[in-house]
Amino acid sequence: MNDAPREQWASRMGFVLAAVGSAVGLGNMWRFPYFAAENGGAAFVFLYLLMVALVGLPIMLAEFAIGRGSKKSPIQALEYFGGPAWKPLGVLFVLGGFLILSYYAVVAGWTLRYAWQAVVAGFGGDLGAFFGQAASGPDAVGWHIAFMLVTVTIVAGGIRGGIERSAVILMPLLFFIVVGLAIFAATLPGAGAGYAFYLKMDFSAILSFRVLTEATSQAFFSLSLGMGAMLTYSSYLSRDDNMPRESVIIAGSDFLIAFLAGLMVFPLIFALGLAGDVSEDQIGALFIALPGAFGEMGAVGRPVGILFFFALLVGALTSAISLLEVVVSAIIDNWSWPRRRAALVMGVLITLAGIPSALNTNVLGVVDQIAGNLILAVGALSLAIFVGWVMPDPIGEVRKGAEGVRWLPVWRAFLRYAVPPLLTVILYFSVRSTIGMIRGLFGG
Ligand code: PFF
Repeated sequence: MNDAPREQWASRMGFVLAAVGSAVGLGNMWRFPYFAAENGGAAFVFLYLLMVALVGLPIMLAEFAIGRGSKKSPIQALEYFGGPAWKPLGVLFVLGGFLILSYYAVVAGWTLRYAWQAVVAGFGGDLGAFFGQAASGPDAVGWHIAFMLVTVTIVAGGIRGGIERSAVILMPLLFFIVVGLAIFAATLPGAGAGYAFYLKMDFSAILSFRVLTEATSQAFFSLSLGMGAMLTYSSYLSRDDNMPRESVIIAGSDFLIAFLAGLMVFPLIFALGLAGDVSEDQIGALFIALPGAFGEMGAVGRPVGILFFFALLVGALTSAISLLEVVVSAIIDNWSWPRRRAALVMGVLITLAGIPSALNTNVLGVVDQIAGNLILAVGALSLAIFVGWVMPDPIGEVRKGAEGVRWLPVWRAFLRYAVPPLLTVILYFSVRSTIGMIRGLFGG
């Protein structure tokens, strides 16, 4: 065991901002607008919100109960409340953090590269070819390594000195940039067409299991749930936080940024008649059509481009930090390593594991499907069962600091009876699409 006293957040605000930092990332500013536009527009937004309320918030609170209640990293926390039989779930969480970060840092590396390009030269020329070069191959490997270097440095700095400090500075900045750009985008001539593309209501989507599955896995990914990130962050809390209120603030901010991202991205693209670049695929949207818009926008294009990629980078960084922290906290607790060594060694291993994703975007897609969708769904289902049925008195834990909250018994009943069947259905569809994807990759 590590003898050093367990680290703690310096303030509640620090914890909330770090958790929002974990939640807000590439999932909000890149995945969400596209999922919405492709899956029924406003109907998707509605389903997404519904799933955040029905499963996202309950699971977040479940992670908080385990984390703050045990004050331990995932593997030991699950053992603490459930005995050794539950340790493998903690191992799955750590593995999930490891795998998600391996490819997340590759996409974050693209972002870093684009931010750099926006600053030093701006965008022009053949942006499709530019993206092709940035997305896979030696360039992608290089920027992936650079991004991981920054992530490791911050996590090595510890909870207060590294993670909290960066979140307190960066998250308000990100918020102002996104709000500012969304307002700017509203003044552009293409705004209406952009909004229509984003939010055009398709009622049939509400009844589709495929869309429901997409909305649910997007909710887990976006809220950083199902692999112990929120559990780990809450393990550094003191006793008296009002966790129900904080989870609503965190989920609300996460949705707000995702929704605003759509209001910012599509008008920018449609203002310049670049919609054709969008329909090809999701990736093209952010990394081809948007730089195209920045390039053709005239004098304002440059600062707008810099702000946009800076915000995207900040989102990616604060999320990557939480992914690495899950792995690092587990190593510190289980092997008694000092934080710096754990951050460095795990950072190197994760960087190496990401190289195949940096060399081939199909590999990236498969790892995303397995870790970003499947592991999170399995993790969330197991968490619901754990807190619903196994953990002794989760309500008592959450009630500390939230004495006035009356609906905690409803929360637990929900975790017991409603969430597991719902997530079993989601998991079934998720497994099916994973198998289909892997078959597709091998040409079967
Ligand atoms: N929530 C992050 C995003 O939306 O980009 C991604 C993420 C971070 C997923 C941390 C899972 C996690 F544990």
